[in-house]
Amino acid sequence: MNKKTIVISLGGSLIVPEEIDWKFVKQFKKVIENGIAKGFRFIIITGGGKTARKYIEAGAKVGDIDSEDKDWIGIHATRLNAHFLRTIFKEHAHPTINKNPYDLESFLKAKESILVAAGYRPGNSTDYIAVLLAKHFDVKKIANLSNIDHVYDKDPRKFADAKKIKEINWSDFQKIVGDTWDPGANVPFDPIASKLAAKEGMEVVILNGKKLGNFQKYLDGEKFSGTIIS
Ligand code: UTP
Repeated sequence: MNKKTIVISLGGSLIVPEEIDWKFVKQFKKVIENGIAKGFRFIIITGGGKTARKYIEAGAKVGDIDSEDKDWIGIHATRLNAHFLRTIFKEHAHPTINKNPYDLESFLKAKESILVAAGYRPGNSTDYIAVLLAKHFDVKKIANLSNIDHVYDKDPRKFADAKKIKEINWSDFQKIVGDTWDPGANVPFDPIASKLAAKEGMEVVILNGKKLGNFQKYLDGEKFSGTIIS
């Protein structure tokens, strides 16, 4: 792949914080199209956002929902968001979304500037898929866009003295997030995905996706606000 490729793990909380945030999506589209004009290629993995939680809550009122059911609803929410993105990027995006990071036949043949992927099977996260795809495409940079500005040394919602981290190595990051995956934990980057990213020598940046000017700076190689994990 000759173009400079960036893998983006796009948090569902940005696409569907409560309702669909089309204003965010519109701005995001502009930044990505700017990036394409500058020669970037993007592999975007979409999260699920509130859609999953709404279905899970509704389902629980009607019947029994176990954790695998919850995961599948989550997976389908990520897929809906993936279709949404590939639709709004129709001009630039590969027509099919990837739903299996171990079957990349269609992606590997693709010539388009945007490839969109979604959730696979229960017990995973889209962060992990982002790392798997980065590995297959030999990409070393992943941008994790969510609604947090930085990684903190402890949970900022619980501790008033939590400190912002600008740069951190994988082993220190793993001490903060632990090493097991808990779907409800809401960590900046999934611990299982972190393990693989560390092993592959990848750099993951944690950025607030709402501040798209900041993301633009990251793409332009300028100083940006966020956390670099490497
Ligand atoms: P994510 O947790 O990756 O998406 O997937 P997200 O929306 O970015 O996360 P938040 O809500 O903004 O923090 C949503 C859910 O879908 C299931 C998991 O239950 C996960 O919590 N999922 C996703 C899987 O089970 N397998 C996958 O491959 C992907």
